[in-house]
Amino acid sequence: MASYETLLIERRDRVAVITINRPQKLNALNIQTRAEGAAALDEWREDEGVRVVVITGAGEKAFVAGADIAEFEGRTAVTQRDVMLGRSLFTAVDTFPKPIIAMINGFCLGGGCELALACDLRIAGENARFGQPEINLGIIPGGGGTQRLTRLVGEGKAMELILTGDMIDAQAAYNLGLVNMVVPAPDLEGKTMELAGRIAAKSPVALRMAKEAVKTASRANLDEGLRREVDLFAICFSSEDKDEGVRAFLEKRKPEFKGR
Ligand code: COA
Repeated sequence: MASYETLLIERRDRVAVITINRPQKLNALNIQTRAEGAAALDEWREDEGVRVVVITGAGEKAFVAGADIAEFEGRTAVTQRDVMLGRSLFTAVDTFPKPIIAMINGFCLGGGCELALACDLRIAGENARFGQPEINLGIIPGGGGTQRLTRLVGEGKAMELILTGDMIDAQAAYNLGLVNMVVPAPDLEGKTMELAGRIAAKSPVALRMAKEAVKTASRANLDEGLRREVDLFAICFSSEDKDEGVRAFLEKRKPEFKGR
């Protein structure tokens, strides 16, 4: 397993945990962190031992407080464009073929909110705070925030968050549908790992097809999406996991999925 300077990596059974580890900078995403995050995911893409990934931030205060603003200074627009068009952590998360859960333990701002938005599920501690404060720096979200936030919570609320840069608390984020669950801060890790473990016990083939099918909904029109769903269903139907799932049900036992 590779080691990284800005990330802590842990394997807990079939769940891999990435902890962004720059707590003194509230886990702000610099170029190195983004590259290391994408590299860690690349390592697990074909690793059958990893079935679910959890992403979180080190320390008590922040998930990720945004892009590393210090890196903006002195950078030309052309360089910035190159950085953003290069290998994107957000795209690596979005296109990763297994479920990724954001475990949000504090400030979840700017690029941090965009990182959480690229994940498949978001679990927040009660102390989490969300926002897209880029407008206060004279810029706009550039890691998918204008698109993914809008798709998730609708144009009106996305526009409000992006135009004002205001922060909202975890309960408000839950009310918007921005997070799936809010839990007391001390329970965050336990609840997230319990959920990750429960998902990790399901068929990896079906999880992969389900993620792709759901993501198709915001990218294709209804007819294309419904057609894609049938194709992805057919792939599941041809899997050994489906045979095992059906057999286990009929034999009244728990299925043991192998990802084949
Ligand atoms: N980029 C770089 N450094 C950051 C950062 C970011 N996005 N967010 C926080 N930090 C650094 C601070 O500069 C500070 O570093 P220092 O101790 O060397 O001065 C350290 O993290 C702690 O942050 P601080 O601002 O002292 O904590 P706070 O509790 O007073 O405020 C926030 C917390 C999140 C409200 C505040 O840090 C903030 O507004 N951060 C920027 C959020 C943002 O605009 N993100 C979008 C970027 S595009």
